[in-house]
Amino acid sequence: MKIHNLTQQPSVLNTFIAEIRDPKIQKDSLRFRRNIERIGEVIGYELSKDLLYKYQEVTTPLGVKKMQLLQNEVVLCSILRAGLPLHQGLLNYFDAAENAFISAYRKPLKAADDFEIIVEYFATPSIENKTMLLADPMLATGQSLVAVYNAIKEQGIPKEIHIVAVIAAKEGIEFIKNHFPENTHLWVAAIDDTLDKKGYIIPGIGDAGDLAFGTKL
Ligand code: URA
Repeated sequence: MKIHNLTQQPSVLNTFIAEIRDPKIQKDSLRFRRNIERIGEVIGYELSKDLLYKYQEVTTPLGVKKMQLLQNEVVLCSILRAGLPLHQGLLNYFDAAENAFISAYRKPLKAADDFEIIVEYFATPSIENKTMLLADPMLATGQSLVAVYNAIKEQGIPKEIHIVAVIAAKEGIEFIKNHFPENTHLWVAAIDDTLDKKGYIIPGIGDAGDLAFGTKL
């Protein structure tokens, strides 16, 4: 797996990350969602440089120009519900992409800090041999991503997968490395050190789904 940590080189991306971490700014859920979307746009642009391009002629009203244009057939797949603003950010740049949505949630088990991942809903176009961008804003334990990948494999095998995360925990990165194919890319805007007992990223941001869409029962 190739890991692209986009904050290794400081940029305005850090401003967006700082804002989604700040509890005062987090209160503004519109700004929170828009910041996640902006992070999706930045990551989308960066990862677009890793895709396949071919010279094609573009005809303007005044002439013809050869340009390198994207060849990949892109499918954007997002994990509900927290992935939605990140999905929108990616879609703003890959507007010709097809779209897939998959649900994954943590079902608590008997032990207070234990859970299993339940994948129930998966709406997808054909993904066979396509370039999949898999959006999951918080790569914590990595268990949701792996459960989702197992469901994806039942529908077809993408040519390559680009996982898009806003914040990843080191432990989660280690976990997914062993479960995704070699040619997978991980694009991440920030890497944090640890997880708490409940599997939340520390310092992280808290619950990305709640911050974007409100608390749930
Ligand atoms: N999901 C979140 O929303 N936040 C975390 O820290 C971990 C998983």
